[in-house]
Amino acid sequence: MKPTVPGKGESSGKEFDFNSRDFERVRGLIYQRAGIALADSKQEMVYSRLARRLRATGITSFQQYLDMLERTHDSDEWEAFTNALTTNLTSFFREAHHFPILVDFLKTLKEPATIWCSAASTGEEPYTIAMSACEAYGSMTPPVQIVATDIDTNVLATGANGVYPMERIEKMSPERVKKFFLRGKGSHEGYVRVRPELRKLITFKQLNLLADGWPISGQFDVIFCRNVMIYFDKPTQSKILSRFVPLMKPHALLFAGHSENFLYVSDALKLKGKTVYELNANQRVARTKP
Ligand SMILES: C[S@@+](CC[C@H](N)C(=O)[O-])C[C@H]1O[C@@H](n2cnc3c(N)ncnc32)[C@H](O)[C@@H]1O
Repeated sequence: MKPTVPGKGESSGKEFDFNSRDFERVRGLIYQRAGIALADSKQEMVYSRLARRLRATGITSFQQYLDMLERTHDSDEWEAFTNALTTNLTSFFREAHHFPILVDFLKTLKEPATIWCSAASTGEEPYTIAMSACEAYGSMTPPVQIVATDIDTNVLATGANGVYPMERIEKMSPERVKKFFLRGKGSHEGYVRVRPELRKLITFKQLNLLADGWPISGQFDVIFCRNVMIYFDKPTQSKILSRFVPLMKPHALLFAGHSENFLYVSDALKLKGKTVYELNANQRVARTKP
């Protein structure tokens, strides 16, 4: 296979030299920081996303940029580096088969529901959860609290803002659009804003699934962890799942992405439906014991 990045000392013809050693360093740093295991095929992507950081910081080589990162532990540049390397693809009602399951489940609850959306990206997923909750309870103020987290601070800001280009909702039914969105006028033409009632149901905050302490507490009725585990290796997936388990109420549901299978990495869970998990019987018994 033809290498996409030249070896050390070879010329790339690019604005900045970027060799396989630089790529390995980036790979090591983002793995340590976010658990993201970058495949060899991501070399071009890494170059183009981080070249923007070099331009923004005025640093003229990858080597210097990476040296600077390694010298500092918690600088703003670390945040920008991480934000640059995440992949944030998402959409409203993505993997739509999950949402009728969520609606039916919410209808069975006797207490207000607590939901954690753990890789919320730009907000489409937590807003879809909020819309489903409104539909489940037949109210724009359902008894539901949603915590939406992500490692990437840029996407969280977009989510908290709740403004999207019209194209993002074009597959949604006109009834939902009318009920849950406000159309932008004048300079906001071509954009929609989620209704404030939906926005109020969600708290957006940064959380790195890899970090030691998670800034969340309590137990959840539902956890969404969709399309993020695919970026992690098996030991990381297993560790994260073992930390989800104590945060799940005995009856809780855990939603995964279409290509993620949690049964291989956790024996505390069992499959309830297509990519929907619940705690296995032993775990439930352990929870309900006085
Ligand atoms: C492909 S998006 C999936 C978004 C949404 N869950 C969905 O299925 O549509 C993956 C998200 O995981 C986030 N992410 C990556 N590594 C993370 C980590 N260590 N902790 C928390 N979020 C992370 C990324 O920033 C990105 O927004």
